[in-house]
Amino acid sequence: MEKLLIDGGQSLEGEIRVSGAKNAVLPILAATLLADGPMQIENVPHLQDVTTTMELLGRMGVSLTLDERMNIEVDSSTINELFAPYEVVKTMRASILVLGPLLTRFGQAEVSLPGGCAIGSRPVNLHLHGLEAMGAEIEVKGGYIHARSKRLEGTHLVMDSVTVTGTENLMMAATLAAGTTIIENAAREPEVTDLANCLNKMGANIEGAGTGTIAVHGVEKLYGCQYSVLADRIETGTFLVATAITGGHVRLKNTQPNFLESILLKLKEAGASIHCDADWVEIDMYKRRPKSVDICTAPYPAFPTDMQAQFTALNCIAEGSGTITESVFENRFMHVQEMQRMGANIKVTGNTAIVTGVDRLVAAPVMATDLRASASLILAGLIAEGQTIVDRIYHIDRGYECIEEKLTQLGARIRRVPH
Ligand code: EPZ
Repeated sequence: MEKLLIDGGQSLEGEIRVSGAKNAVLPILAATLLADGPMQIENVPHLQDVTTTMELLGRMGVSLTLDERMNIEVDSSTINELFAPYEVVKTMRASILVLGPLLTRFGQAEVSLPGGCAIGSRPVNLHLHGLEAMGAEIEVKGGYIHARSKRLEGTHLVMDSVTVTGTENLMMAATLAAGTTIIENAAREPEVTDLANCLNKMGANIEGAGTGTIAVHGVEKLYGCQYSVLADRIETGTFLVATAITGGHVRLKNTQPNFLESILLKLKEAGASIHCDADWVEIDMYKRRPKSVDICTAPYPAFPTDMQAQFTALNCIAEGSGTITESVFENRFMHVQEMQRMGANIKVTGNTAIVTGVDRLVAAPVMATDLRASASLILAGLIAEGQTIVDRIYHIDRGYECIEEKLTQLGARIRRVPH
């Protein structure tokens, strides 16, 4: 199993380009199942989860071609299977996103129930309730979701709780339903809006994406189009925190700072100076030690749960103590015990971690458990004394494109070893 070796102590300096957003490209690839004609998807990040999604679509008979610039042409007219097998879904929960498109376009779908994962049980009950409310017949048997429907009917949905992929699945299902679907208490994440923008370019009629109430007026057909994926705000945030932790000065290009408000506010509270324009953001810590910040995760536009582990790492070496409250997932502190092995002073009670900054962390062999936890261990390694060894980095490859190359470009001493 590959590992990352990080020799701490370098402050990050320079500039890098941010990749396309994992959590935007995955629903957009699922949306290609709705198109009656080929689609060109651009600014696709080179990630394991993208490869997995292409494999899933390929197994269904969808034709996919990838060009040298990682643009993907997808043509679902050759589809011959409406089935998402367990062996693929278990490696990537976001496979559930094919359910809505398959059901609304072809009237049936067999999709494996995604298992839970390290950060929580992550049920999909809200996805299924919404589809049933639109007229689908759904039976869960043998670990699979068996869904059937005549043409789905537009309806008024009020989501019991905010769900990003739940909103995306139901929005996609509603595009070809008869009549209008209203989704209240919808997720407002920028990736939901990016999907809606792509669907509208395909001929859908969606209003209100990015707000808590989305209206989808059903149409007869969706067509292929060319679409360039939104920049990854979580990759952007991760590199901003890496710079803050190491006291560095970095500019991140090809990103959208307007989707980073809650993250930038916390970095300013930590003592960073931040400058940004339409498509870049620059952070300077002037080699200073950051100040601790208090974080409480919640749905967008509040502070994102996907940035919680990274700020936990920042608080580990910051001045003072900070409270981290995780209100979205029930078990997203696995990185804590790994950081404690590096000398961090963290006390966890329920869904709150009190982090008291220490002057220095000491390198140790640590183990990644989920995507963002593994990123936070790399950040801790950047400032720890000695060589940190991060194991099970397949987690990191799911969601960060060429992370060690980008960090090396900024002056970090990091390399990948085969095992
Ligand atoms: C999306 O996951 C993201 N993944 C996650 O990013 C992100 O952490 C999460 O949204 C929250 O922002 C993708 O977009 C592919 P949810 P999702 O449904 O949609 C509960 C990363 O690191 N819930 O918004 O699965 C659920 O258990 C990943 O890039 C139900 O109870 O998250 C959780 O507690 C990790 N029933 C809460 O809602 C449901 O039917 C929010 O989950 C659905 C969700």
